[in-house]
Amino acid sequence: MTNNGLRGNYENMSDDFRVAQNYANYTSDHQDVWRRLYQRQLELLPNRASSVFINSLKQLDFANEIPRFDIVNQQLLAATGWELIGVPGLLPDEVFFTHLANRRFPVTIWIREPHEFDYIVEPDLFHDFFGHVPMLFNQHLADYVQAYGLGALKAFKLGGLTYLARLYWYTIEFGLVLEPEGLRAYGAGILSSPGELAHATAPILPASEIATRQWLHFDLVRMMQTRYQIDCFQSTYFAIDSFEQLITETAPDFSLLYKALNKLPVLSPDAHEATDQRL
Ligand code: PHE
Ligand code: CO
Repeated sequence: MTNNGLRGNYENMSDDFRVAQNYANYTSDHQDVWRRLYQRQLELLPNRASSVFINSLKQLDFANEIPRFDIVNQQLLAATGWELIGVPGLLPDEVFFTHLANRRFPVTIWIREPHEFDYIVEPDLFHDFFGHVPMLFNQHLADYVQAYGLGALKAFKLGGLTYLARLYWYTIEFGLVLEPEGLRAYGAGILSSPGELAHATAPILPASEIATRQWLHFDLVRMMQTRYQIDCFQSTYFAIDSFEQLITETAPDFSLLYKALNKLPVLSPDAHEATDQRL
């Protein structure tokens, strides 16, 4: 089942790429993969995941079986006005951003196969659901993701999408937050990955590992200059002080910022700049 090189079945969808979850199609193997992935992540969360994520997960009840989108939607709509929609897999940018702008979060309906338990390149149900959905119960994150969708539709017209894609990556996917107890992950790419969860949140490192990643304070321009890697652990992470910071720092009009960025150098994922604000 491939479509333009994308995994997933893109045949029976509506114009906006929605598909039914088709819950009855999940096999006991799929359910088993879900339960084992969930259990493994759950054990890694203490001292690594944001308290917002952990508390949200506690309110939800999806440890034992693949969640049903229609049931979760009743809770999510009441909490923050977001709604999950089933999709076959990755979406064209404009389709994806239009959903976010309307507080609809696309969730891939298929889950990885048992042999992909430890590693999968494309987002599957586990990443999309476990990583993103608990955070969408937080009002600030919920507002930020919608603002991002609206901003991306605007950036699309202004030629700023490359910059905004980096912002998505370094916040929604791989963001960290400084909580009173320490540095914690809120990005879905970290929260859904056993390896990255440890890699991203261990600022006290043995000497042999010191050069493998760095932690910087939230810096809009620095993030938007920095390329990212999709197939290995991140080399640079950015930490916010609070979830409000995401809203306040991204509220200004970015039109001129995109113009300014066109004149600034693009930085490699592991760049070290003299002006960097390290944690
Ligand atoms: N403030 C941005 C603009 O005017 C929009 C935006 C908001 C982008 C939030 C990303 C996140 O273009
Ligand atoms: Co994601």
